[in-house]
This record gives sequence, C-alpha cells and structure tokens, in this order.
Amino acid sequence: MCGIVAYVGLKPCQTLLMEGLKRLEYRGYDSAGIAVIQDGGLHVAKAVGRVANLEDRLESIGNFHGTTGLCHTRWATHGGVTEINAHPHTDDKNGIAVVHNGIIENYAALKTYLEEKGHVFKSQTDTEVLAMLIGELYSPAEGIDLEAAVQAALREVTGAYAIAVICEKEPDTLVVARKGSPLLVGVGNNEFVVASDASAIVAHTAQAFKVDDYNVVKITPKGFRTSTINNVPVTPKIEQLELELQEIELGGYAHFMQKEIFEQPKALRNCFRGRMDVRESKVVLGGLNDHAKELTKARRTVLVAQGTALHAAMIGEYLLEDLAKVPSRAEYASEFRYRNPIIEENTVVVAVSQSGETADTLAALHEAKDRGALALGVINVVGSSISRETDAGVYLRVGPEIGVASTKAFTGQVAVLTLITLFMARRRFMSNEQCSDLMAELDRLPEKIERVLESDAKIRKVTERYIGKENWLFLGRGYNYPTALEGALKLKEISYIHAEGMPAAEMKHGPIALITDGMPAVFIANKGKQYDKVMSNIQEVRARGGHVIAVATEGDNEIRKYAEDVLYIPDIPEPLSPMLAVVPLQLMAYHAAVLRGHDVDKPRNLAKSVTVE
Ligand code: AGP
Repeated sequence: MCGIVAYVGLKPCQTLLMEGLKRLEYRGYDSAGIAVIQDGGLHVAKAVGRVANLEDRLESIGNFHGTTGLCHTRWATHGGVTEINAHPHTDDKNGIAVVHNGIIENYAALKTYLEEKGHVFKSQTDTEVLAMLIGELYSPAEGIDLEAAVQAALREVTGAYAIAVICEKEPDTLVVARKGSPLLVGVGNNEFVVASDASAIVAHTAQAFKVDDYNVVKITPKGFRTSTINNVPVTPKIEQLELELQEIELGGYAHFMQKEIFEQPKALRNCFRGRMDVRESKVVLGGLNDHAKELTKARRTVLVAQGTALHAAMIGEYLLEDLAKVPSRAEYASEFRYRNPIIEENTVVVAVSQSGETADTLAALHEAKDRGALALGVINVVGSSISRETDAGVYLRVGPEIGVASTKAFTGQVAVLTLITLFMARRRFMSNEQCSDLMAELDRLPEKIERVLESDAKIRKVTERYIGKENWLFLGRGYNYPTALEGALKLKEISYIHAEGMPAAEMKHGPIALITDGMPAVFIANKGKQYDKVMSNIQEVRARGGHVIAVATEGDNEIRKYAEDVLYIPDIPEPLSPMLAVVPLQLMAYHAAVLRGHDVDKPRNLAKSVTVE
C-alpha cells in the first residue's frame, strides 16, 4: 500500500531515507514526505507525485542534516492526492510527526473527540487523527513519554497500521508499531533502519526483526525495547535477511517488469530445484509433509486470492480437479470472507499471494481457519503475514518481484500449485508413469519459456499493429480461460487499454456484440482437448470483422488461415500450457505500455501489495 522508512542513529539520515523510499516506491507513489529532527526542532517537507519531486523540494529548501527521521510514499485511501494529505502528519503542540501504512477505521469518531478538545485538522486523512491523538496523550510531566503515548493511542484505535513516530522533545527516539501492515526493524551498529520491507534495509544491514501485531518498538541509537500496546515486554527474533541487493537492481533491463518476465526460466528452475524426484516419481514439498495425511484425505480445496494470484488459483482449481480428483474452487478472497462460507470436514483452504500481505486474502484465511479448515499458503515473500498465519505452505522461490504488474510470481504460483497437485495426486489416484511424465515436462518448461522469449521482437511488432485500439478481447478455454483473464488484466493495468477476458464459448452469449472491424481478439489456441471448439470461436470473431491474434502450438500451420497474427509456443501437455501461453501475453502488455509511454513499473492508481480491504 504505502511505503515507510525511518532511521535513528549517529549519521545525517536524509540520503538514506530517500534511497530507501525510492526502493519502496512500487508500494504507492502518489505523494511523498519526510520529517527529521535537527537543531532542536521538527523539519518537514512534502511533495505530490514521485519521490524525485520530494528530492527537488529538499534541494530547493536546503537539505536536512538531522540523525533521526522518517519518510513515506503514499497510496491514497483517505483524502485526495494533495500536499496537505501527504505524510508525515504532525500534531499541533508537541512537534510529533507520524507516517502510517494502513487504515484507521474509527478515525471519524476520534476526530470528533479531538475537535471537541479544540484541535484543528489541516488534512482529510485518518493518519492526522493518529498524530493528534498521540500529541493529546503525550505528557512527559506525568511520565507519559513518546512510547507510552503511542501505546495509549493505539489502544483507542481500530484498523490496520504500520507507523513510525518521532518527537522534537525526544530527538534521539524513534517509536514504531504494527498491526496488520508489514514492518521490519534493521539492526545496525548504533543505528536502526525501519521499513515496510527488506528492500530499503538490505543496503545497510542484513540483521532484522519483524514487528508483530500489536507490538510497539522504542528505538534509540543505543538500542531498542519491544513491548505490546499494553506495555508487556516482548523479545523479538533477529534474523538474517534473505534478500540481496542485486536482486532488487534493474540489472541492465529498462523496467523491473521486463526483467521479471525474462527471469522466469531461472525463477522456475529455482522453484523446482530439489522438489521433483523424477526417479521415485515423487514431489518433495518439505513444508507439506506434516499434513500429507490430511491432504490425502482432503474432500475439498478452496483457493482464495485476488488479482493475478486469483487467476493462478483458478488454474490450480482445474489442476486439482483434473489430476488429483479433489473437488475444488477458486474464489475472490474478498467475497469468500463475507459470504458465510460452508467449510466441511477435511476442507483445505489455499491462500495464494505474491506479497503475502494482501488484506482480503489474509482475512479469508482467518475466516477459513476459524471454521476448521487446514490452511495452506502459496506465497513468494518469505516471512510475510500470510505465510506466518498458515498451517503450512510452499514458497515460490522466484526472488523478489518489484514490478507492480505481477509476472514471474504468476508462473511461480501456477508451478507450485502444479507441484501441490502432483503431491496430492500421487497419494490418491495418479500412477508413477503419469507423475513422472508430468515432472519431466515441468523440468523442460524453463527452456521452453526461453524459446518463447526469443520471439520478443516479433511480439513487439504485433503489438505495434494494434497499439491504437482501445478495446481488446482475450479468449481461452479450459486451463487457458484463466490465462485469458490474466492477459486482459496485464494489458489493463499497465497500458490502460480496456480489455476483457472470458471463456471463448461465453462470447456468443453477449460480448460478441462488442466486436467491430479490426477489433483485436487474442485467442489462446494451443493444441488441446478443445482446440476445434476454439477454432469455431475464432471463426465467429472473424465473421464479424474482428482481428484474431492467436497463441498457437509450434507447427500448427492451419491456424494461419484464420488468424491475422500467430504467436507460437512450443508443444506442452495442456495442464502445463498456461505457464507458457501467458508469456506472449505478458510481453504484449509490456510493449503496449512502453509504446504508449507509460511508467511500466508504477502504473497509475496501483500499488504492489494491497494491505487494506
Ligand atoms: C497483478 O499484476 C496485480 N499487482 C494485482 O492484481 C495482484 O495480483 C493482487 O493485488 C494480489 O496480490 P498478491 O499476489 O500480493 O496477494
């Protein structure tokens, strides 16, 4: 959602804070701000737009030199994109500054209470209410220092938060706290770097601990104290950060999305490494061994997720039913959690998420666990909230994903769901041979993706041909219906072209009315059980003047007669084909965004991880 970086130590911290904030910009980028304590006072600067605008502002007002500070990059929830609404927010009497990621749900009631006490608000945000409340409770004379004031304020708050707080009356103190939104404390020599995720910390230290829910950490250059909001001491576990700096560098690519598309072969090799024992035709998923019996007896699986992760979950649904014979369904987590779901005995709920922080998916997981389901996670970010709240799970191991438009995490999620399916299927109905054959095909998948990536230039050319078109359709059947949804989502979220994905058979039940001359219709038409059906659907579009772009199997010359453009992928068994067929769609979306001059890695109105409902 938003990105937070804070520092307390012995050196001037502006540069460190700005560098960290730029690494977190994928979390939200509509405005940014910084506050430091120097010369006995609080100094604040804010700017609308990118962190670069804030740097320009600091340049113009004279850079800060304080050694205690915090900063923030925003994804607006309460109040428009203005300088006033940008963080940090301050109180009106004690020189207290707060940055916040999350939502204070009862802010309106607290605001009324504080207005009755005479406080005057400048912004429309929920966060300013928190700053005022901390200021109202702050009373060193009565022994209520900054830490105690933050604890007291958070006992009044409902909602989700990760916050950092400083006060000009305690120049060497930084107080941070968390409930729901992620927050890490990086431990250095006489200095501490606090951030929403590791990418803003790894350049300074590899030692860090996660702040747990309802925990508050008081930090000075000399050390830190962790306690609950009720002031019960807590001892956090300091761990080695797994992230390396080069993983979060562009590495010669123009955009992180492009880098992550081209990293997919390597990412999938990492994902499969040590997990496929072809000789024993066994899938090895250490994280699931303790629940192997329950998984063998599973009577139903429900997969919960949002966005791209949901499209991967939908392919998981097809795989589990088709190959493991487990009744399965993929659901919007946001719908699942509020529709009073029926969770019978031996139900397995699988939460699929790249970030592991998506609030809707986390809440759906809680709902399922409360109703007795075995809760599994298919997650990329190690140690994320969802991964810590599941009973067991499998990490994607595809490396950090920075581009807001998810790509390698999608193929990684489908790959892991395929492994989980084989893990269950081998314990239910699947033969050695069938399992070995599929594992052998999985082993060959990275090289097949490399072959598709070699046709990048051709895919760019095809995209150029339709770049002026404002409405596109994406169509697929069976395993590749969710792939069509994913292709449409990728195009929408980074090129801002309106696109609709749907089962190819559904078109004639209405959407076919949208087809006009030259309208691009992307079909996933690789060889498979429903190939002939897809060909009929292609004819329906052509008959109405639509232009067909077909993703087809190498060697299929027949399809050339019916499609304006054909993007070939190597032959592959149908259940595995989504991981291959999606690659040309990812590249088309990427090139469309570049050709339209959009900021590919930070598309408008989006954020990499959505930590509020
Ligand atoms: C995909 O490109 C988007 N970034 C978005 O739809 C994303 O998939 C969704 O928000 C779920 O995120 P998660 O995988 O981190 O839970």
